[in-house]
Amino acid sequence: MTLDQKFPCVSDMERIAKKRIPKFAYDYLVGGIGDEACLQSNRSSMADIKFSPHYLRESTDNPDCSHALFGHVYDAPFGVAPIGFSGLIWPKSPEHLAVAAKNHNLPFTLSGFATSSVEDIAAAAGTCHWFQIYITKDDDVNQSIIERAGVAGAEVLVVTVDIPTTTRRGRDMKNGLSVPPHFDWQTICQIVQRPAWALASAAAGVPQFRTFTPYMPVNASLDSTAEYLADLVNVPVTQDRLKRFRDLWPGKLVVKGLLDPSDAQLAKSIGADAIIISNHGGRQLDAALTAPQLISQMREAVGPEIALLADGGIRSGLDVARMMASGADFVLLGRAFMFAMAAMGPKGADHVMNVLKAEFEITLAQIGCMRVSDLPKFLI
Ligand SMILES: Cc1cc2nc3c(=O)[nH]c(=O)nc-3n(C[C@H](O)[C@H](O)[C@H](O)COP(=O)(O)O)c2cc1C
Repeated sequence: MTLDQKFPCVSDMERIAKKRIPKFAYDYLVGGIGDEACLQSNRSSMADIKFSPHYLRESTDNPDCSHALFGHVYDAPFGVAPIGFSGLIWPKSPEHLAVAAKNHNLPFTLSGFATSSVEDIAAAAGTCHWFQIYITKDDDVNQSIIERAGVAGAEVLVVTVDIPTTTRRGRDMKNGLSVPPHFDWQTICQIVQRPAWALASAAAGVPQFRTFTPYMPVNASLDSTAEYLADLVNVPVTQDRLKRFRDLWPGKLVVKGLLDPSDAQLAKSIGADAIIISNHGGRQLDAALTAPQLISQMREAVGPEIALLADGGIRSGLDVARMMASGADFVLLGRAFMFAMAAMGPKGADHVMNVLKAEFEITLAQIGCMRVSDLPKFLI
C-alpha cells in the first residue's frame, strides 16, 4: 500500500496519530483551552467558506500555485507554524519538517520552545527557515537568541505575543503533563502501548528546549529547568519590548497572535512587516474569534502595506484556498503537520506536504482559478 492509499488526507493521518502516540502526547497536540469552543470554531469557520466554481474557461493553462512573500517565491502559499515541544509528539520532528519544507520550497517556522535548537535547524531548513521567539524578561537572553537566529540564517523572526499569562488546558492537567515530562505509572502505561513512539523517543533521549540550553542553570534538574523557563517567559509583552526586538532584528519581523485591529495598527507602527492573525490554534482564549472572521477588519486597520498571515483549523489544501480567498496573504498550519509526523514518523513530513500541495492545486483547477491572488474572486 502506498502512503497515498493509506493517508490520502490529513484526517486519515489524525486518526492513525491517535493510535500511534501516547494519550498524553496526542492530547497535548489536539487539545484546546476551556471547553474547546474556539478550537471547534476554527474548524467550523473553514467549513463556512464556500466557492463558486467557474467551469467555462478562456484558456487551457494549469493553475500557478506559487506565491511570493517577503521577496521569496514559495511553491504554495502555506508553511509550517511553530509548535513548541514538538519532540514529544514525534522525536526530531522539527528536523524532518525543516528538510521537507526546504525540498518543497515552503517556509518552516521553528518554535523557540521546540526540542531542537535554532542551530540544529539551520542547515536543514536553508532559506526556508523562520524562527519564532517568545519575549522573555531577560534582555540579554532575548538579544542572544535573536543574534543566534541571525547567525543560523533564519530569514524571518516571528514574535509570538498571545501568551500573556500561564495557561490552563484541561487535557494536559488531567494527564499530569509537565514540561519537561515526568513519567508516572499512568504515562508509562500509555507509553508501553505505543512501541514505535517509545523506541523512537528512547533513541532520541529526553526532549529538551535546546535553544534555551545555554541559558539554563548549570546541572539544573528537570524541575528547576521547567521553573526557570516558566519564570523567564512570565512577562507582559509591552510595546517597548516589541520595539527592542524590532531594533535588534534587521530582517523581516512578524508579530504572531494578534486578534484586534488596534493591536495590528500598533504592530505596524512599531515596524512589523507582517502580522499573523491567530488564536494559537484555540489554545489560549476560548472566546476568541477566528482568522476568517477577522481578516477584513484587520486589513482595513493596517492597509495594504503589511502582509496579513493567518492560521487556525487548516487541515487541507482546500482550507488553504479558503483562508487565502478570505484575504490572507499567506497561511500556516500547525497540527496538520504534526498529525503526519505522529502517523508516519519521518516519512510523514514529505507526504503531508505532497498531499496539501496536490489538494491546493486541485482546488484551484476545480474552481477555475489560475493564480493564487485571484482566489478572493471565487468566494461566495
Ligand atoms: C501543540 C502545539 C504547540 C504550539 N506551540 C507554539 C509555539 O511554541 N509558539 C507559537 O507561536 N505557537 C504555537 N502553537 C500555535 C501554532 O503555531 C498555530 O498557531 C496553531 O497550531 C494553528 O492552528 P492549527 O493547529 O489548527 O493549524 C502551538 C500549537 C500547538 C497545537
